[in-house]
Amino acid sequence: MKESHPSFALILPASFQKGKVAWRSPSNIAFIKYWGKYGVQYPKNASLSMSLSKSSTETSIEYSRAGAHAKRAFLFEGKAQEAFAQRIWKFIDSLSEIYPFLNQLNLSISSRNSFPHSAGIASSASAMSALALALVDMERKLFGRPASEDDFYRKASHIARLGSGSAARSVYGAYSIWGENLVLQKDSSNDFALPLQEEVADCFLDLHDSILIIDQGQKEVSSSLGHSLMNGHPYAGDRLKQAEQHLKSLLSAMKAGDQDLFVKIVESEALSLHALMMSSDPWFILMKADTLQVLQKIKRYRESTGHFICFTLDAGPNVHVLYGKQDKIAIEEFIDKDLKPYCYEGHIIFDHLGKGPQKID
Ligand code: DP6
Repeated sequence: MKESHPSFALILPASFQKGKVAWRSPSNIAFIKYWGKYGVQYPKNASLSMSLSKSSTETSIEYSRAGAHAKRAFLFEGKAQEAFAQRIWKFIDSLSEIYPFLNQLNLSISSRNSFPHSAGIASSASAMSALALALVDMERKLFGRPASEDDFYRKASHIARLGSGSAARSVYGAYSIWGENLVLQKDSSNDFALPLQEEVADCFLDLHDSILIIDQGQKEVSSSLGHSLMNGHPYAGDRLKQAEQHLKSLLSAMKAGDQDLFVKIVESEALSLHALMMSSDPWFILMKADTLQVLQKIKRYRESTGHFICFTLDAGPNVHVLYGKQDKIAIEEFIDKDLKPYCYEGHIIFDHLGKGPQKID
C-alpha cells in the first residue's frame, strides 16, 4: 500500500484550472459481519460481503483552482442537506494529510441514491465508496497516480474505509474481503478490502438479495456506538474466534458449492450479530416482531421445499433474503405471498450480485 500513499507536493500542476469526476458505487451486504473496530475504522475481524447491483450512490465532484477562499457546496438529490453536508466536509477535512491539495480547490459535490432515503437501507457504504472513488480519480487526473488499477482500487477502498468501515468493501464487484485473515489472501489487510480471489461455484455467481423493508425508521443505534459495544463485551474473544472460523467455512462452502453450509454460516452470522447486541451493555434489540416472523417463515419454507434460500440482517430490522437462480420463480412467489405482508407498505428491493462501481462520463 506504500506506493499508493505518496506524499504530495502542495502545488497543483501549473496548467490545471478545473475538472469533474463522477462515480456510481454499490451498497453491499456482509455475510461475515464486521462488528467491533479500533482506531480509524480498523476492523477487529475480517468480513466478507456481496456487492449489490441496483442499490447504489452516484457522486460527482466539480473542482477548480481556488482563490484566497476555497468555496464548497454539497447537494444531496439536488437539495442542500445540512446534516449530510457536515459529515461530508468533516470527512474531506480529515483527509488533509493524504490529500493536502483539497484545500486549494473549490469543491462542488453532488450525490444521489438509487433507493429512497426512507427505505431504511444503509447508504453509508455506497455513499462513502462513491465519494472515495471520485477523490482517487481526481488524484489520478491531477497527478497521474495511482498508476495501476490494483493500486487505484486499494486506495479507493482505504479512503472509503476512513469514511465508513463497510464502505471499504464496496469498491469491488461480486464478493469482497476486508481485514487481515490467516485463511486467505497473503496480502489481506485491515487498511483496505480486496476482491475475493478464490473461485466460487456457479450457484453463488447469480445470487439474489431481496431486501424486505420491515421498518423504514431511522437507525436506532449509530454504527460507531454499535461497534463500541464490542469493547469489553463478555463474548468478544469468542466472537473473534467465531468470525475467523465462519470465514474459513464460508469460503470452502462457496468454493465447493455447498449451499447447506452457506445457509448455516450466513444465518448464524446474522443472528450472532443481533445476539451480541442483545448481550451488550447497554443492550439493544434491533429486530421488530415482524422481523422474527419473517425469519421463522423463511426457515419453514426452506425445510418444507428444500429450496436454497436464507436470510441475513444488518444492524437493523430489515431482512435480506438470499437465493439463487435455480428456484427463483417459486421463491419470489413465496416472498410476494408470505413475506410482503410484513413489509412496510409492501416495500421490497429486489437486488442481486453486482458488477461493482462504474465511472460515469
Ligand atoms: C452490521 O460500516 O456502518 O453492517 O465503520 O462505524 O461506519 P462504521 O460502521 P459500518 O458498520 C457496518 C456493520 C454491519 C456489518 C457489516 O457491514 O459488515
